[in-house]
Amino acid sequence: MTMTPRLRKLVLTGHVTASVGWLGAVVCFLALALAAFTSPDAQRLRAVTLAMDLTCRAVLVPLSLASLVTGLAQSLGTRWGLFRHYWIVVKLAMNVFATIILLIYSTSLAQLAGVAAQAPSANVDLGGLRSPSSVIHAGGALVLLFVAVTLSVYKPRGLTRYGARKRREEQRPTS
Ligand code: HEM
Repeated sequence: MTMTPRLRKLVLTGHVTASVGWLGAVVCFLALALAAFTSPDAQRLRAVTLAMDLTCRAVLVPLSLASLVTGLAQSLGTRWGLFRHYWIVVKLAMNVFATIILLIYSTSLAQLAGVAAQAPSANVDLGGLRSPSSVIHAGGALVLLFVAVTLSVYKPRGLTRYGARKRREEQRPTS
């Protein structure tokens, strides 16, 4: 099903907003992760860990899913197709990979937030909250999303085998 030009623009607006918004949210998350990793202060460490957990659940996960859903609609509802161009197949793989890692990571972050939420008098070990894992995850996501934006804007021309076959079929004169 091909979208009307109006609908295509609307979905594209949603796709760019969700995808680039996701990248912006990752930058914020990276700042929080660096603050947690370097913070010598227990109160600050607890507060930042709780903010990271909230950002992950309420912002990163919804934006990653919105980018995926709108990207799928944008591919399937236009002549771009889903498996015709390498830049789209690569973006799909990157998005699915990043979303799976994000969902897995959000469960460990929720556990850390559970530790951070305990009363200061509970005398819990906060050492685990200072692990470099969040910084590594956020840094990796930032690189991946930057590559995805670059691919989207440049749209390298390479066609997949399927894409080349479809193009030949479309160009064949109908008798
Ligand atoms: C990984 C995160 C993603 C980011 C950061 C991203 C970013 C973008 C951006 C900025 C554009 C606008 C480019 C322009 O108009 O010049 C775009 C367009 C597009 N994206 Fe994505 N995208 C992502 C994921 C996906 C996925 C998963 C798919 C498909 C399954 C997809 C399919 C498309 C298509 C087909 C267009 C062109 C739309 C059109 O011109 O009609 N994107 N993307």
